[in-house]
Amino acid sequence: MPRGTALALPLERLRPAPRATRNGLKPQYSSRCVVFSLNVDHSVKLLHIVGARPNFPKLAPVHRAGQAAGVTQVIVHTGQHYDEAMSAGFFRDLGIPAPDVNLAVGSGSHAAQTARIIERFEPVLLQEQPDWLVVYGDVNSTMATAIVAAKLGVRVAHVEAGLRSYDRSMPEEINRVVTDRLADLLLTPSLDANATLVAEGESPEAIVFVGNVMIDTLLASLPRAEATGYAASRGADGRHIVVTLHRPSNVDDPERLRLVCHALSALAETRPIFFPAHPRTQQQLRVLGIDLGQVMVSDPLPYFEVLDLVRGAHAVVTDSGGLQEETTALGVPCFTLRPNTERPITVTEGTNQLVSDLSALRSLVEGATPVRPPRPPQGWDGRAGERVIAALLAHSRAH
Ligand code: UD1
Repeated sequence: MPRGTALALPLERLRPAPRATRNGLKPQYSSRCVVFSLNVDHSVKLLHIVGARPNFPKLAPVHRAGQAAGVTQVIVHTGQHYDEAMSAGFFRDLGIPAPDVNLAVGSGSHAAQTARIIERFEPVLLQEQPDWLVVYGDVNSTMATAIVAAKLGVRVAHVEAGLRSYDRSMPEEINRVVTDRLADLLLTPSLDANATLVAEGESPEAIVFVGNVMIDTLLASLPRAEATGYAASRGADGRHIVVTLHRPSNVDDPERLRLVCHALSALAETRPIFFPAHPRTQQQLRVLGIDLGQVMVSDPLPYFEVLDLVRGAHAVVTDSGGLQEETTALGVPCFTLRPNTERPITVTEGTNQLVSDLSALRSLVEGATPVRPPRPPQGWDGRAGERVIAALLAHSRAH
């Protein structure tokens, strides 16, 4: 991008946090967008952290926008996820450069995995000396590396800040709270997250609403998803349901998993059900010898193939945070098998419904109707990655 090129970032009725308006960048307001003037700036260095499957679609648009703005970027993969279908396939499909460093921490208890990340990441951070550590979402890799950076005085930017389930039995909730407390720049996907962070005492100057980076990837990927022809090749005809389950609360407790599977096999009597299963879920199904009847269980699928199945589905049944958002953006009804969600906007403005009574699942799913055209929340517009880079550059110049 030539020096001084203006990026028009549509952000209807929104204003950047006060700090972004005061330094280096000179935003010009119109009723529908904020225009930042971005100079190509090789002096700013970003170190991106990814580790687990949901991180990769979030990194892709931010890294692309960083390349366009000419910043120096390093990708560190912690190795939390390592199977081809959980990691390398995403890098290839989403056009993300291979990681510069892989910490290869692998699986383990939360303490062991977190400790390994902390220990292996410290020398990498000391060597790289970035201006910013950019962390995504709420996985163990996010929190562990934020701790290392905070202790070494490296500024932390958290993409997907401010989400709360208020359920500390979820490991992700602990990761969210700790990461947000340590972050210097809180980049939020929805305005409820701004309000949450302010209520928790964060400085409004550190909070910037950027929108949903994962939806950037979703919108950019729809043509390629359709081109896979995957749904048609599997006979998915629009009456089908897509299921994903991997949360410890659904999968690790044998009694709960049996109940969930019983409800799913009942649904499969009347509708095709595709269930690409996370490795931990597959393992539990095997160990417990659970029979899912006509439910079509498979290994985890590539991103484009899942998207092709989901975009044409009658409904999705899940416990994934990402799918709650993706179905909202697509207007596909979503039933989340959890008592709470850290993404309330998918319920208040989207297609998501929390289901705790499994006996109601069948009638809820049968009665589901799509939202056409979809009405995604503000900032879920395909430009969030650019806004992340704009915010990082604005806050870099403030120091
Ligand atoms: C992690 C994240 C969760 C995210 C999910 C997406 C945390 C606390 N959890 O959960 O927020 O929604 O990723 O998938 O960070 N395994 C493999 N191959 C792999 C990776 C994992 O077989 O490539 C198996 C291992 O048996 C491992 C288990 O899956 O013990 C769980 O993996 P782990 O990364 O600990 O947590 P996830 O359940 O994947």
